[in-house]
Amino acid sequence: MRKPIIAGNWKMNNTAQETKNLLNELIPLVKDAKCEVVVCVPYTDLYAASEILKGTNIGLGAQNVHWADKGAYTGEISADMLLELGVKYVIIGHSERRQYFGETDETVNKRVIQALKKGLIPIVCIGETESERENGLTDEVNRRQLTIGLKDISAEDIQKIVIAYEPVWAIGTGKTATDQDADETIGKIREILGKMFSKDIAQGLRIQYGGSMNAKNAQGLMSMPEIDGGLIGGASLKAQDFSIIVKAADNF
Ligand code: PGA
Repeated sequence: MRKPIIAGNWKMNNTAQETKNLLNELIPLVKDAKCEVVVCVPYTDLYAASEILKGTNIGLGAQNVHWADKGAYTGEISADMLLELGVKYVIIGHSERRQYFGETDETVNKRVIQALKKGLIPIVCIGETESERENGLTDEVNRRQLTIGLKDISAEDIQKIVIAYEPVWAIGTGKTATDQDADETIGKIREILGKMFSKDIAQGLRIQYGGSMNAKNAQGLMSMPEIDGGLIGGASLKAQDFSIIVKAADNF
């Protein structure tokens, strides 16, 4: 019922030229995918990517968006700038933004509202740190990030978003949550969303897993009933590996 979505988060990797090479390799490998395939590339690669991806089944995403329409925000990028380049998706609230660039649940909320207003599909990242997990705070942290991050979003708009559950301790570390752990936590996230909106809406929302997902562990994670796709960092930089993850999603 929920169409799986596999999104690559390239982070700060690949020049425009490297983007062309990687996408040219990737396009034929995923052309028959049944799931939704997205690549979220650095801003400076968006133009090159949008040209190459025209007419393909790969959607284009950015890694952030500002909450204002335009103005004196040096270094920031607006939704209109992204839309003109054919961007459809935008990652919001990635843990690296929260950890290194002062992103908070409140700024996440402002960005999500702006993305929805402009017709971009937000991929909203949430997840606990290692010490929060050790202290049994996983569900509480996810609840707080969802409650504030998705504040004032209408029942209609919420159905357009994608949630990415990314335990911070699993990102780029090679440590993945077990299939069962990830599934259980995502099930709880769905429960929280059910209380915030409605059970039916929560059942329809796509929730990805992210954090060291790769060609080897994708099949197991994708086989879990609550997991509707993945947000892939490191493994999205290799066309072969990323396409294997896409194929894993196609099996479910
Ligand atoms: P990773 O990154 O797959 O390299 O762990 C995932 C992410 O941060 O979105």
